[in-house]
Amino acid sequence: MKLIENVREMQQYSESLRLSGKRLAVVPTMGALHNGHLALVRLAKRHADVVVMTIFVNPLQFAPTEDFSRYPRPFERDKALAASEGVDVLFHPQLNELYAEQFETFVALDHISQKLEGKIRPTHFRGVATVVSKLFNITKPHIAVFGEKDAQQLMLVRKMVRDLNFDIEIIPAPIEREADGLAMSSRNAYLSPEERRAATALFQALVLAEKKIRSGERNAEAVCAYTLNQITSATLLAKPDYAAIVRTDDFEEAVTLQEGTEYFLLLAVRFGNVRLLDNCRFVV
Ligand code: PAJ
Repeated sequence: MKLIENVREMQQYSESLRLSGKRLAVVPTMGALHNGHLALVRLAKRHADVVVMTIFVNPLQFAPTEDFSRYPRPFERDKALAASEGVDVLFHPQLNELYAEQFETFVALDHISQKLEGKIRPTHFRGVATVVSKLFNITKPHIAVFGEKDAQQLMLVRKMVRDLNFDIEIIPAPIEREADGLAMSSRNAYLSPEERRAATALFQALVLAEKKIRSGERNAEAVCAYTLNQITSATLLAKPDYAAIVRTDDFEEAVTLQEGTEYFLLLAVRFGNVRLLDNCRFVV
């Protein structure tokens, strides 16, 4: 596995691969790798000749009150995991390599950045769209893989690619879970043992909600209220931010679930200082 820390070198290496006819995939991450990230690599390998993984903890997408400085950065472990999964190039720039002093150009999406996660984290998606644009310009991929775990981020990237004409195919990857159903996340490491046990309530509530929909419930608000109620009655440690049902094609919130339409049921729930996201995708 080749390790690159410099922007110019990454651009030149990608350019040479493209000229030699190789198909490039990029898997952007913030490191602290787990099996969810590695599943994206496995998917990328099925679609490309060369897989570039990026590891960069992006300060722009963290609010001043959030966990940027304490976000885990186990780089040696990440490097070994990436290599053993068959990543061909690991791009790992330092902070000042991506953000020079007086950096002042941002990519912001109007509508999708403002709702759900964006309402709670107002500058988050501007940070994500900006860094993902930069990583696309630096790694020059044909395809890019993003996880459905962060469904709103996936939709944001899809819209950005369409709106700004990036010539990149976005491939979604399903959510990887622990044996007890908890969606894998670098932030799970912050949970206390008690919170970790309680956090299984999210997946269990999603399963019950799907059952409720299959048994005929079509009122989106009723499904969301039911889901939140399942969580808060399973554990006192959970403090839900929201449950919402959105259409997968445009991320607009549903009122009445329509036959033949595909939706995400999205959950954001706090356990202490840790915010967990989870979702399920279903067709009515
Ligand atoms: P990070 O949280 O490290 O996630 C990197 C990628 O892994 C994202 O596409 C995310 O959706 C995916 N992922 C995380 N947990 C997953 C799971 N359990 N199953 C499947 N995929 C999972 O998302 C980011 O970093 C950043 O916002 C980034 C896009 C890198 C921009 O900074």
